[in-house]
Amino acid sequence: MSPTTAEPTAVLSANFTPKSLAELDTPALMVDLSAMERNIARMAAFFKDKPAKARPHSKTHKTPQIALRQIAAGAIGVTCAKLDEAEVMLRAGVPSVLIANQVVGPFKTARAARLARLGELILSVDSAENVRELDAAAAREGQPLNVIIEVDVGMDRSGTRTPQETLELAKLIRGLPNLRFRGLMGYEGHAVMIPERDKRAEAARLANSKLVSHAEYLRANRVEVEIVSAGGSGTWEMAGSHPGITEVQMGSWVTMDAHYKKIIPEFENALTVLCTVISRPSPERAILDCGMKAITKDFELPVVKDGGAEVISLSEEHCKLKLTSRELAIGDRVELIPSHGCTTFNLHNELFVVKDNEVVDVWPVAARGGFH
Ligand SMILES: Cc1ncc(COP(=O)(O)O)c(C=O)c1O
Repeated sequence: MSPTTAEPTAVLSANFTPKSLAELDTPALMVDLSAMERNIARMAAFFKDKPAKARPHSKTHKTPQIALRQIAAGAIGVTCAKLDEAEVMLRAGVPSVLIANQVVGPFKTARAARLARLGELILSVDSAENVRELDAAAAREGQPLNVIIEVDVGMDRSGTRTPQETLELAKLIRGLPNLRFRGLMGYEGHAVMIPERDKRAEAARLANSKLVSHAEYLRANRVEVEIVSAGGSGTWEMAGSHPGITEVQMGSWVTMDAHYKKIIPEFENALTVLCTVISRPSPERAILDCGMKAITKDFELPVVKDGGAEVISLSEEHCKLKLTSRELAIGDRVELIPSHGCTTFNLHNELFVVKDNEVVDVWPVAARGGFH
């Protein structure tokens, strides 16, 4: 499927009647379309002349309209964490999906083989048991499966540890009739949030070098390695420039959040939750109708867009603000920037698309809650 297939969905819905922000019920998840498009353009400009390509992680936004915009700007496909996300993305017309998490067990392996009929699906593996069950599921469904091996590049999570282990697993895959060995992935999650840029770059360089050394070891043993996938938002440029890395799986950058913004300021905060002031119990206190069921407190508390107030706590359905220099009355609206976009998107069914202070579209967060 060529990138042009994505173009019709890259325009706004023809039947949506624009409305003002005042017409939105709250809490409402909103994306500033222009800011998100500038983020996508920045990413596209970087990858345009690089050997590596962008394969953005769609676990952040779970929204096909965003994925298709990334693809229209040059991304080769998306990364997903779960089959539910992969299904949503493939059905929406995303041409290629890499699942970065292991897909284990009889239900999931059979489902993966069925989903592989919808478009290119690449699964990451790190054990012989999983490789054998994927081959058996692919045989039963009559649908070959693409696999890459996950290498642990220092995060101490999933993945093979030594080049010899990676080679053994690659040989096993290549010997099975229903699997296609495509390459390696290694996510340097231990590096992406290191605040100091030089220390982060060094941790990323070591992790990316480890991944590439596994690829070289396989090639030295006559195993072809096509894909070498790495990177997160904090290391996007580092992984994207590292010799031997062929694709980068960064996620949060597209809408950016308050926490990552301190680490990679080059991307704009495009994601907010619109809230309403429901109580003013004292001169320095305002209460909003938005608790942790509508915005995450992962990493830290949300940040008040435009300032003048500070979030001091979130309970289930309330947000407590300390007013510093902002006057707020009952019924006023406040926008909060989530500390973490990925765990905020997943709380909402809809994403309201805002341009020049007008709601110009509404997109379903179609893979929201899809953790299978
Ligand atoms: C496997 C994998 N790849 C890439 C990412 C990058 O995501 P982000 O750019 O949001 O840090 C993550 C984040 O959790 C991940 O688990």
